[in-house]
Amino acid sequence: MRRITFYIYWIICSFCLIGQSYGELSQTDVLVSEMTIIQQNPQQMIEAVAAGKERALLCGNCHGKNGNSVRDYIPNLASQNAAYLFNQFEKFANGERKDYVMSRLAKNLTREDRVNIALYFSQMQVEARDQPVASSAEGEKIYKGLCFTCHQQDGHGNGNYPRIAGQPYEYLKRTLNSFAGGNDRRANSPMAVIVKNLNEKQLLDVAAYVASMP
Ligand code: HEC
Ligand code: HEC
Repeated sequence: MRRITFYIYWIICSFCLIGQSYGELSQTDVLVSEMTIIQQNPQQMIEAVAAGKERALLCGNCHGKNGNSVRDYIPNLASQNAAYLFNQFEKFANGERKDYVMSRLAKNLTREDRVNIALYFSQMQVEARDQPVASSAEGEKIYKGLCFTCHQQDGHGNGNYPRIAGQPYEYLKRTLNSFAGGNDRRANSPMAVIVKNLNEKQLLDVAAYVASMP
């Protein structure tokens, strides 16, 4: 009898585990793979980008109509990797990443909106902007010794590794400060362990170099 009870528990638990992993898969992963399928189909891509453009009208007030931001503390979305953009919507919506405006906006976007908007901005071209500081040779050394492994030599990243090249210096500075534990806006980011060993001056140097990258 005891043995039967044990087997019943065992079967129920197995179902729970299977259910849980399907549950996780049905979230972000499935949509990111759907997005990849759209990216490989030219016609679907045209439709998604057009739908994304329509839904992105409001975003243009801050991120610029073509994804080149209108203020130095706001990131460019143009040329950003679609998977990264999509994942950041998820993070703003579930509270993992915090920003007064973005956290509210992200919750109001449907999953389809998020896919289309991410694809739309990934297709826009990032433009060179005036940066308040010159590039830094020290920053370049840090970049080439450490950052390139994930963000690539050219700073364009890949998939869920964001493009950082040419982001506004002010945004980079603030973001690196958040990663370094200055506030909880991006708590638990994988970047925290990376910046832990850099001092304040090194963070400013690397921000200056990244801002200057085309
Ligand atoms: C009122 C200004 C404002 C509006 C409108 C706005 N954003 Fe943002 N957005 C910001 C700011 C500021 C940040 C940077 C937050 C931070 O420092 O973490 C940001 C960050 C983001 C990020 C993260 C980018 C990165 O490089 O990590 C994405 C993606 C994004 N916004 C998408 C959108 C979309 C899509 C819309 C329209 C539905 C939108 N935003 C509308 C101000 C705005
Ligand atoms: C091990 C891989 C890895 C390395 C090495 C790495 N990064 Fe990152 N970086 C990431 C990931 C992943 C993210 C997205 C973080 C998130 O979603 O919280 C990111 C995000 C960033 C962002 C925010 C981008 C945005 O649009 O908001 C900046 C800035 C950045 N990294 C700069 C750097 C710099 C500078 C270095 C070198 C000192 C570096 N990274 C090294 C993986 C890495």
